Amino acid sequence: MRKFICLFVICFLPIATTLRAWEGNVLVSTPNTSIILSATEGQQLRFSYFGERVEEDQIHQVFDAWTGFHRPAYPVFGTSTYEISALHAVHADGNQTLDLIVDQVEQNPVKDAVLTTITMKDRIYPFTVKMYYKAYQHIDMIETWVEVSHKEKKAVVLKRFDSGHFLIRRGDVWISSLHGHWGAENMLEEEKLTNGQKVISNKDGMVNTETDNPSFMLSIDGKPQEEYGHILGGTLAWTGNYLLKMDITNTKLNIIAGINEENSHYKLESKETFKTPEFAMTYSTSGKGGVSRAFHRWARMYKLSHGNVERDILLNSWEGVYFKVNQEGMDQMMKSFSALGGELFVMDDGWFGNKYSRDRGDSSLGDWTVNKKKLPLGIEGLIASAKKHKIKFGLWIEPEMSNTKSELFEKHPEWILQCKNRPLSTGRGGTQIVLDLTNPEVQDFVFSVIDNLMTHYPEIAYMKWDANSCMLDYGSPYLPKEKQSHLYIEYHRGLNNVLERIRAKYPQLILQACAGGGGRINYGILPYFDEFWTSDDTDALQRVYLQWGVSCFYPAIAMAAHVSADKNHQTGRYLPLKFRFDVAMSGRLGMEMQPEDMTEADKEFTQRAIQAYKGIRPIVQFGDLYRLISPYENKGVASLMYVAPEKDRAVFYAYKMNHFINMTIPNVKMNGLDPQKKYQLIDLTPLSKNKPCSLHNKIISGKILMEKGIALQTLLKNEYYSLRASRSKIINKKLMKMATKNFSWSSAFSILLCTQNIKKESVSF
Ligand code: DGJ
Repeated sequence: MRKFICLFVICFLPIATTLRAWEGNVLVSTPNTSIILSATEGQQLRFSYFGERVEEDQIHQVFDAWTGFHRPAYPVFGTSTYEISALHAVHADGNQTLDLIVDQVEQNPVKDAVLTTITMKDRIYPFTVKMYYKAYQHIDMIETWVEVSHKEKKAVVLKRFDSGHFLIRRGDVWISSLHGHWGAENMLEEEKLTNGQKVISNKDGMVNTETDNPSFMLSIDGKPQEEYGHILGGTLAWTGNYLLKMDITNTKLNIIAGINEENSHYKLESKETFKTPEFAMTYSTSGKGGVSRAFHRWARMYKLSHGNVERDILLNSWEGVYFKVNQEGMDQMMKSFSALGGELFVMDDGWFGNKYSRDRGDSSLGDWTVNKKKLPLGIEGLIASAKKHKIKFGLWIEPEMSNTKSELFEKHPEWILQCKNRPLSTGRGGTQIVLDLTNPEVQDFVFSVIDNLMTHYPEIAYMKWDANSCMLDYGSPYLPKEKQSHLYIEYHRGLNNVLERIRAKYPQLILQACAGGGGRINYGILPYFDEFWTSDDTDALQRVYLQWGVSCFYPAIAMAAHVSADKNHQTGRYLPLKFRFDVAMSGRLGMEMQPEDMTEADKEFTQRAIQAYKGIRPIVQFGDLYRLISPYENKGVASLMYVAPEKDRAVFYAYKMNHFINMTIPNVKMNGLDPQKKYQLIDLTPLSKNKPCSLHNKIISGKILMEKGIALQTLLKNEYYSLRASRSKIINKKLMKMATKNFSWSSAFSILLCTQNIKKESVSF
């Protein structure tokens, strides 16, 4: 029977289901935003409005002013196919269409949110779609997803299955999104949308954010600005293959987002439920900054493992020793890092495999036993070293993968993704292959990799979970032949199963998501992870761009940013240690180099920088981000800051990106401060201990800092000399000459701003 749950239910069961069906309109609201849906029983569900918050008694005004629409909220192929369809199902009798009408509407309080459930049924076929809108009550974020099921006699084939759809009026609309490649992932791109289609997608879902990222912002009234303008943000919480499509016409812009249907047709059995991933949306009247801050808060509160816990400062062994792992070397790195003030050591690739020793990237994945030659004392020896040096210990794994040169492959060739009657494709090192995570036995194996390590060595505090291959072969030995097209979806269901089990058993373990660099930065994987590896490119100059892009959607607490060697291993660029630290200190600070290669002067600086970061860590990791000058605007400088929620403390960063004599450098106006408060400025990372910058210890009001700003012109000019001072001992004259030639005269500042007890709180050097 089609019905609305009636309003009187509220009177008797105040916490139970309630109905909001004012004249058939359903209001889905967060503190500052609303969606209006028209949900009249027996009719199509309509989407009317998404924007600033609307109260119940204002709905009719929105309609009178007609700022909205009256279009299908979840367009289906066949009957509501306007410009786009979000769901396409083929029934067993060959009928390709759906005709969905509203059956029931419910609104329920759930933790920190209100969940609206709209049940839609096909007029003829026993086919049901439940559409959900979860509106957070402390953050402007609405998640939407659907559950599709049917009771037809035979399977129905789903050809499209999007998580959500909405539309906006076509104006001067611009999109901001992230695009890249290995070593240059998630670079920000902005463009005006013209008639046609803009697609953000990934096809195989393994390394799903190396090129595109399933996130976007839409500025609906002109070129996007940082702190003003109406901007809508969206992200798909799925670590597999995805497709986000903007369909633009003269009058409107349709947006659909979901799993990529390409090569993923899904055979839905009777009574089976297909749940799509969540698509999260936010809307801000304070520009891109407002959208980013909403994503960051939502991430920290709901979408990130341990989002409210400070992250340790770590040293990762990769760029320091690569595969040359051994007990003495690891012990020495731990000792050196501990002396610098570090808190956690992570041994990267190269520690495992006995029959086949992992000495290069071409063997041993799957053979997760300690290499006895390299590490005769085993993991125990490493944990003992960590204890001795008073730091925590973590290690690298790549549990979804194997190599043709491995004991695992010899034992279980049937566990590998492979197409029937075709040669096996291989990735990294010409031997890397991907495990078939659709297979429950393989899921058990992957779980056991972590479980065994944790059972034997419960002191392991951290694991870096890598994945260095896309899916090379479209074939699962486990899935039945009529369900091979489920591969991309079932793989990620399998992965999520494993991650659920790991999180249930090891809730304290800190996990980093890595996929050949920044290939897994998305809200599908983050709930299981504490952070992500932002990119294999650790060049601080390029990182300013890269981290800027990532910061549009993902919070600093999760953004692993490591200080690496000079010259940089990826770009060959020389940059001063101070610049490298000032860039890394705007994310989750870490190091990735051989500390013993540093001069005494560099070590002394590093100690001070690490100590300074400990002081500002809560502001960076839990504060609100204000981006001030974008590196993408080519003004020669970039600047950003984090402000504590109480606005009593903030950290300001400025980077000089290139240098010309007498170049014009804009004043930088701060943001997010309290205009009434006075702030003392403290130079966090002066090159020499007793020579802070000229702003050091100045007391300036929030009003002046925000309205007039500070002049970078004089502050950033002499960095080149400090570069020489810090590097003179490690590089010889020839290298120095080369460096000078290539060097872009970059310089940087990190400044702490604080209000009360200024002297006491100051970071002491
Ligand atoms: C790729 C990662 O991005 C690197 O940081 C490193 O862990 C290597 N894999 C190890 O093989």
